[in-house]
Amino acid sequence: MCVGISGVGSYVPEKIVTNHDLSKIVETSNEWIIERTGIHERRIADDDMATSDIATKAAINALEDAKLRPEDIDLIIVATVTADHAFPSTACIIQKNIGAVKAAAFDISVGCSGFVYGLSIGENFIKSGTYDKVLVIGAETLSRVVDWQERNTCVLFGDGAGACVLEKCEEGFGILSIELGSDGSNGEVLVQPAGGSRLPASMDTVENRLHFIKMDGKEVFKFAVRVMERASSNALKKANLQLGDLDFLVPHQANMRIIDAAAKKLKLEKDRICVNLNKYGNMSSASIPVALDEAVKDNKINKGDNILLVAFGAGLTWASMTIKW
Ligand code: ACO
Repeated sequence: MCVGISGVGSYVPEKIVTNHDLSKIVETSNEWIIERTGIHERRIADDDMATSDIATKAAINALEDAKLRPEDIDLIIVATVTADHAFPSTACIIQKNIGAVKAAAFDISVGCSGFVYGLSIGENFIKSGTYDKVLVIGAETLSRVVDWQERNTCVLFGDGAGACVLEKCEEGFGILSIELGSDGSNGEVLVQPAGGSRLPASMDTVENRLHFIKMDGKEVFKFAVRVMERASSNALKKANLQLGDLDFLVPHQANMRIIDAAAKKLKLEKDRICVNLNKYGNMSSASIPVALDEAVKDNKINKGDNILLVAFGAGLTWASMTIKW
């Protein structure tokens, strides 16, 4: 049985924050951010919007694209590190918002690799015969956990949401191969230290700014370059694809230098790589589905194309997937 993406949708908040805007609140410059990351601007959700609000809009767009009603959906999987609450899950809130009355719903926490993990979980539920129609969402309001006094991190992230519907598809099409991985031994290089059971919220955690993202950028960078290449090669090998068979790469959008390094290894020209981090920054689990949605709507991906999704993120984790579109 083959499982493929029958609908894709996304939503980004309207408010744009440019590098120039950031240079007014931390010691940075438009030139530094562009040169070191490739990011020009990012979207930030209004104060009254949470992750489920933007995710709901992306979900509705994906359902419309798949020509399905909310009540057709059997399962909702939400990949996020910025859930509305510790509980209930953001997936359950979205289920209520869209009226997916028969769907089971849960969140997964896999950092920026979460969306590809979500697709692989959805594929397995369909292949096992448990469900027919699965809605997978990657959604983040990273602006809520970014330290706006910390120039090393606040310039990198943005808010957004993307979603895909998975269903059975024509033989030979859809998801061809999956490669997932984790290295928990190095997890401390990217962490939100407080707010969980290890360091519950207290005056101390707030005063010491421990509810914000802490990152060793250089370590994450080295890890990213290493695993993007390895995860990509492994997914291609599992699908019996050669480098030359690859039509389009949709990489996690964290840093242009990381994408360039992966593209060089895969010998891909620029027009076959999806890049939108200049407009949105790193939207963590939302970055791949938003990029995929834009590439599909811009007709950069056509029926029969071999595409590769590849991501890395907190955990540390990585994930890659080949799809015949
Ligand atoms: N503006 C100006 N200067 C800055 C800024 C800034 N915004 N940020 C850091 N600097 C300074 C540093 O303080 C340092 O100064 P120093 O030499 O006087 O100490 C200098 O610039 C160089 O800093 P580096 O950290 O060496 O800069 P680097 O080229 O490594 O770029 C960056 C930093 C962009 C963070 C890079 O390491 C990176 O992209 N890493 C990967 C991050 C990533 O992908 N994170 C996402 C994880 S996904 C998830 O799950 C959330």
